[in-house]
Amino acid sequence: MSGPVRFGVVGLGEIYQLAHHLAYQRADGLAAVVVCDFDQAVAERTAAALGAEACTDHRRLLEDDRIDAVDLVLPHNVHYEVAREFLEAGKHVVIEKPMTVDAAHAAELVALAAEKGLTFTVNENTRFIPAYQATLDAVNAGEIGDVTLVRTLISGNEFERLGNPKLWKGRQDGSGGGTIIDAGAHSFYLLKWMFGEIASLRALSEQLVGVSQVEDWSVVCGRMRSGALFSVESTFTSGGPWNERLEVHGTKGLIVVDQHQNPPAMIFRGKRDHAGSPLPGTAYAPNTWKYESIAAGIESFAHSIANGEPTAVAPEDGAYAVRVIERAYESVATGRPVPL
Ligand SMILES: NC(=O)c1ccc[n+]([C@@H]2O[C@H](COP(=O)([O-])OP(=O)(O)OC[C@H]3O[C@@H](n4cnc5c(N)ncnc54)[C@H](O)[C@@H]3O)[C@@H](O)[C@H]2O)c1
Repeated sequence: MSGPVRFGVVGLGEIYQLAHHLAYQRADGLAAVVVCDFDQAVAERTAAALGAEACTDHRRLLEDDRIDAVDLVLPHNVHYEVAREFLEAGKHVVIEKPMTVDAAHAAELVALAAEKGLTFTVNENTRFIPAYQATLDAVNAGEIGDVTLVRTLISGNEFERLGNPKLWKGRQDGSGGGTIIDAGAHSFYLLKWMFGEIASLRALSEQLVGVSQVEDWSVVCGRMRSGALFSVESTFTSGGPWNERLEVHGTKGLIVVDQHQNPPAMIFRGKRDHAGSPLPGTAYAPNTWKYESIAAGIESFAHSIANGEPTAVAPEDGAYAVRVIERAYESVATGRPVPL
């Protein structure tokens, strides 16, 4: 493909404005041609900032030949339907996490894109966070020995959105769940990308924000196929800024990644290495960590289309995260461990 990849963007809410917009402003190998949101004022304001066209009905974009690809930044409950419409119309599609609410739908989208020869993936920004890549490099180089335990903790301040029954976030029919589907999507993708598949899991959840319909704390834990143990904890009732933390424990050492820690990624080599050392290439950037990695995901997706290369985030791994989410809710409901 010559020239920039031409995008239609659907959904111009919070994370579009904070993160995706950066990619279209930089316009490095991509261009926003039409931006779309139910909210006309938002669509027009965003379009004006980018020199794009505004629209309020995504169906107008389906047959628009000026567009090669769409970036879908929508509430969870419409991911499947809107992504399918665009794939059927022959557009490349990148969608925000979770790929879908339903695992069968995610598998269907991956198969449909492959059948049509289209580039499709989930914009899982975890893949573009330098500290995680540095962690994976160190683990693969054997620096901490065999991995015995992987722990993630994602904490967010969602009191306001969960407390507003008009918003999709706290409604079961809007989000498909709370922390397990929303924050868990990141951690389950990360586990798969870095450490492979899960063998079995058990999950529990709790709810503090009374007016919402979804869990706002959860722990999903179990064993990976590699034999390592894992635990994925998420909360939406932390008064602090959104934070992502990863610990990888190995037979010879430990790596701790924490978005708000400076330096953000430390490696401890052995039981007497109390001071540890920073992992190379992991700059302290707590406030841009998420937004820059999301924008990088869009740029990487455009690069894949332009060069006919596989996406950095394998679509199958995005779909796998949805399978894990489904099994985790099954475990919450039954109170029992679930094999994968
Ligand atoms: N990668 C990350 O770290 C990250 C962070 C935050 C949100 N997200 C994901 O991004 C997605 C959006 O989240 P958000 O917080 O920006 O939500 P939001 O509610 O702030 O924005 C969604 C926007 O979509 C618009 N919309 C809904 N349906 C539409 C349709 N059919 N056509 C046109 N516009 C439509 C709404 O008007 C709204 O402006 C979700 O999947 C969420 O999980 C990802």
